[in-house]
Parts: sequence; structure tokens; C-alpha cells
Amino acid sequence: MTTDTVDLARQEEFAGRMVQVLNDACLGYLCSIGHRTGLFDTLAGLPPSTSAEIATATGLNERYVREWLGGMTVGGITEYSPDEGTYRLPPEHAATLTRAAGPDNLASFMQNFALIGNVEDEVLEAFRKGGGVPYSSYPRFQELQAEETSRVYDAALIDAVVPLAPGLTERLREGIDALDIGTGQGHAVNLLAQAFPNSRFRGLDMSETGIAAARREAEHLGLSNAHFDLVDSAGLTGSYDLITAFDVIHDLARPAETLAAVAGALRDGGTFLMGDIDASSKLEENFDLALGPALYTFSVFYCMTVSLGEGGAGLGTVWGRQTAQRMLNEAGFTDITLRHVEGDIINVYYVARKATAA
Ligand SMILES: C[S@@+](CC[C@H](N)C(=O)[O-])C[C@H]1O[C@@H](n2cnc3c(N)ncnc32)[C@H](O)[C@@H]1O
Repeated sequence: MTTDTVDLARQEEFAGRMVQVLNDACLGYLCSIGHRTGLFDTLAGLPPSTSAEIATATGLNERYVREWLGGMTVGGITEYSPDEGTYRLPPEHAATLTRAAGPDNLASFMQNFALIGNVEDEVLEAFRKGGGVPYSSYPRFQELQAEETSRVYDAALIDAVVPLAPGLTERLREGIDALDIGTGQGHAVNLLAQAFPNSRFRGLDMSETGIAAARREAEHLGLSNAHFDLVDSAGLTGSYDLITAFDVIHDLARPAETLAAVAGALRDGGTFLMGDIDASSKLEENFDLALGPALYTFSVFYCMTVSLGEGGAGLGTVWGRQTAQRMLNEAGFTDITLRHVEGDIINVYYVARKATAA
């Protein structure tokens, strides 16, 4: 292509956009540091302060804190007063950066950049040769996933997610058998077991660190109705009134087998509650997704790739509603309702009922 066929204004505009991408990606890394060090949390509670005061308040090295504050300031996250040499985190910014923000804390999510950056060479190899990346290449995954989703479960699981299935709260109160597949560190199960002491809960996962953390939390909470097992979801056993899968099915090596096993393990009249990414299976319908590029990025660097790493289906994070519904139908579910939790821009919940035998 010669330069006279190039729209130079468009070229310049796009170059500007790429500069913004570079800067914003870098800010993501600094935000991760801000979260892990507690700098955001401390700054939120301080009056305008010098880097030395902020370093003292956080117990961190002043030189590093000052350099970080430089990036935060030119990136529009903190404010700087040159006359006083003080920095301030506006409360409007703290509202999405601190632990106190709960499910709204986006700084916590930025920790995933380092997680996926660690596997770039392995992902590159998979681009060339196929295959994927093993779970063992993501040593912090369970911890970060639990940190991310626990805040959401604390805020919404009992009061907003469970009621999406009509009558489920009442049945859980009375006492039923429930299973959570791909439970990770099991926080969802432990919350449910605490809230509904008459019901019996089981969580399963293939991650040893996940199951160990889940058992520790159950023990710490003194729960006798929450149990956890190291089991592949495709080979799940037992029979249940409720089966849940939160952000799991698209990661699996064998999602179709798992959904069939779920349908087989549900008692008549039972409920499968599946939370997954709210996206379309058609790329052209995903332009307006608030986290579109992030979802495809995490798919390439984790969700699709761990599944392919096990020789699996590689559905990917953005498998979408149409594919999910088709696979639920193929597993034998005919009564499926899609529900949303207010304020949750990431997930859609599929409430699938198993018909009561005539
Ligand atoms: C994205 S995480 C979701 C964890 C948890 N449900 C949550 O909401 O935080 C997906 C989980 O599925 C688990 N997993 C992947 N393949 C599995 C399999 N075949 N059987 C059981 N669990 C599996 C992973 O170890 C991981 O804990």
C-alpha cells in the first residue's frame, strides 16, 4: 500500500489511540502495585500528603512510593500540589480503587496482568504449535480468583443470586442437597452453608490449592454442612436438588460431558444455576461489552488456553449465550431462563430446571 491510499488523519488518530493503550496498560500494572501494597487504601484515608508521609503511613520505601505517585499523578489517578509537594486520592477515584469499595474495586482485578504476563512465552508457543498452558503455570490463580469473586459473593450471593431461581431460597431453608462444581476456594459454598444450615453442600474442583483453602475456610467457620472434594466435574457422582457452576463451564476441558453429568445428577425438579460471562456468541454483537477486550484477553491467556492445554474444547471466555443455551439443551435441559443481577455487568445466570417425572 502506498502512502497516498492511506487516510493520514485516521492513521494519526489511531496512533494516538495506541499511545493511550500503552499508557493505560502501564497504569494497570501500577494499580496492581497500589492494591497489593495497600497504597490506595492508605491514601484514601489521608489528607493531602507528601511522598515521605505516605511512605511512613504505608511502611514502604519512599523512593518507590514517589515514583509510583509520579505515574499515578500523570495518569490522572492521584492529584499533586507542586507548592506543597503533596498528593491526594480523590474520593471519587477511591470508590473504584480501594478494598473498602468491595465489588467495585477494580484495582484488585489489575493483579491479573502479572498473572497472565508470566505465561506469555507459553501462550506464544501455543500460537505456533497448538495445545495450551497447564494450570500449574498460574500459581496465584486460585488466590486472585477467590479475592475477586468472594467480594461479589459476599455482596450478592445470598440476597441477589439465589433468589434468581424461584423458590430456591425457601428450599435451601428447608434443607436440600447442593453441589458446586469448579468451586475454586469454595467461598460460595461456605457462604451458602452458613446461610442455610439445614442444607448440605459439596464443592468440587481439580485444584488442590483451591480445595485445601475451601476446607480451611469451612473449618474456620465451624461448618459441618460443607464438604469439598478433589474431583473432575465430568466424573461427578451423587444426586442433588441444586447444582451450581459459577464462571466454570467455559474453562473446562470437557464442558459437554460435565453438563450431561450435571443433568444426570440432578433430582427430578432440581435446579442447575450456572453463572457465566454475559456475551453473545456472535463477535459482531460484542462491540458494546463493557469489558470486551479484557474478556478476549483473559480467554487467550487463561480460559481458552487452560482448556486446550488439557486437550479440551477450548470454548473460551466469550463462548456466549447462544452456545451456552445450545449446550444446555444438548445436555437435556429444556426449561432455561436467563437472569441478571442488578449492577453485575459481567455475568448472566442460567436457571435450568430438570422436569419432574410424570
Ligand atoms: C474461573 S474459576 C471459578 C472458581 C469459582 N467458581 C469462583 O467463582 O471463584 C474455574 C474453576 O474451575 C476449576 N476447574 C477447571 N477444570 C475443572 C474440572 N475438570 N473439574 C472441576 N473443576 C475444574 C478450576 O480449578 C477453577 O477453580
